[in-house]
Amino acid sequence: MTTFKRDIARVIGPATGLDEAAIEGAITLPQHADQGNFSFPCFPLAKQLRKAPNLIAEELAKTLAPPAGFTRIEALSGYLNFFVDKADFARRVLSEVLLRGAAYGASDEGRGKRIVIDYSSPNMGKELAFHHLRGTMIGHSLSRVFARRGYAVERVNHLGDWGTSYGKLIVMFLREGMSPNELENLTIERLNGLYTSFSRAAEQDPTLEDQARQAFARLEAGDAEYYALWANFREVTLRELRRLYAILNVDFDAWVGEEFFANARHGKLQAALEVLESKKILVESQGAEVVDLEAFGMPPALIRKSDGSTLYITRDLAAALYRHEHYAFERCFYVVDNGQSLHFQQLFKVLELLGQEWHDRCEHVPFGLVLHKSEEGNWEKGKTRSGHSSLLKDVLEAARDKILAIMAEKNPEAAQKDGLALQIAVGALVFSELKNRRMNDIRFEWDQALSFEGDSGPYVQNAHVRLCSILRKAGRADKSISDKDLANLRWEIFADEESFAVLDLLAQFGDKVASAALSRDPCVLAQFVLSLADATHRFLHNSRVIGSPEENERLFLVRAAQSVLGQALEMIGVPAIESM
Ligand code: ARG
Repeated sequence: MTTFKRDIARVIGPATGLDEAAIEGAITLPQHADQGNFSFPCFPLAKQLRKAPNLIAEELAKTLAPPAGFTRIEALSGYLNFFVDKADFARRVLSEVLLRGAAYGASDEGRGKRIVIDYSSPNMGKELAFHHLRGTMIGHSLSRVFARRGYAVERVNHLGDWGTSYGKLIVMFLREGMSPNELENLTIERLNGLYTSFSRAAEQDPTLEDQARQAFARLEAGDAEYYALWANFREVTLRELRRLYAILNVDFDAWVGEEFFANARHGKLQAALEVLESKKILVESQGAEVVDLEAFGMPPALIRKSDGSTLYITRDLAAALYRHEHYAFERCFYVVDNGQSLHFQQLFKVLELLGQEWHDRCEHVPFGLVLHKSEEGNWEKGKTRSGHSSLLKDVLEAARDKILAIMAEKNPEAAQKDGLALQIAVGALVFSELKNRRMNDIRFEWDQALSFEGDSGPYVQNAHVRLCSILRKAGRADKSISDKDLANLRWEIFADEESFAVLDLLAQFGDKVASAALSRDPCVLAQFVLSLADATHRFLHNSRVIGSPEENERLFLVRAAQSVLGQALEMIGVPAIESM
């Protein structure tokens, strides 16, 4: 795609004196066939040339010679519209997609640069709630997008594994007289149960909250027995997290939690506090140490409580300093819901006040909330503890079971396909989240989550499945393709509307990846996947492939569509399954 735009820019540049890169950037893809395949708006030229844009467009259309591979240039209401030679367009696009394979749509923009992406980062001791899926998958998708742009990506899970909630677990564990033996068989459900029984017991016995605080203080002070308990609780949670991440095909390069930045035994906290002290920006306020941010219209950043314990932001400060030193990042993204915007503004401001000139390379990538209906019927942020939020594993299982039931109805043998059903369930849930703009809130409703109609995961997966099954039948599934295979094809075969629509989208893949990176929003790719799935379904509906006189050529289009759709699906975390 970029090569087409570049060819156009090379023709417009010399005639107008405009910068060719700027021209490339201004070229758009028109919506209607009568506006050609690429458009250049002449409006910005009006001032410079002191002429009306439509006159400029008309003159240029008359004088410019179409670049190679284009048949004509037309002026329309201030736009210069370029029409491609469809056969040549097909040749260029298919050759590039098929010969470059997994490298098609990639770029080396990020060569030699590193990006840290902090995502998922759940609080430990609890199960993953459904709303955790969103940030997890946005971060996961962005990690793939930036890797494709040539960046070295470090995927970081900043686990919430420190804080008074661990004091609660310790208190309950000891109170219920659980033996070390039980520690070995401890499950995440049991841990959750400890939380619930703590809340219940604390209503009867108000001293429990204090006991929990004391237990956490003892843990912070380095008590070996408590630390062993803590490590166990963490491990139990991690086991369940890893199980779910494996289902989602999500992974991390570093699992470094808050404990690493808070616990004196790792030395990271002291380093951060020294920086804070040396810059003299800490002030005392009611016994606590804070950074005053009033001048910036923000509440103070509370760094250390009067009892000496640290806070979320303290740990994040230590983490940012550590990441900068450890990764020398070009960018550090925090994929965290927009409810934490103030926290990140404070964090970045404190880094700036500390003279860390790289503070502006840290970036909060916020996303809208997943809302659940409360008992009173209001839409509210999902909370795991108060119970009006569903667990991720429950939603996944319910979706899988429903899919299994649908499969069994259509094909009784398919009833055994548990694993496949789960992949379809993952696709359905992930797609329905990522097809929304990142900042939009979304409402979780069971009926809707389990409805697989319309613009759904199964619909886009099905387009991929159809392409795969044609390739299998034709024995072309894994065959490697070389220049020679593409010589002497009848490229004019692809000039029909449905084939051309697929090609047009394939050509846009690299631009879509670039735009997902720029907007930090996988939604761009999810929408692209949807368009490509639509175009694929339409093409297959209208054109017979196997057994048609055009079979040989069409199989190359099928292969190219499968390759790009498969890669795009994987980039948004929707499994590119090959049968269903
Ligand atoms: N554990 C936090 C939470 O669940 C999110 C952590 C995000 N990352 C960070 N570096 N603060 O709210």
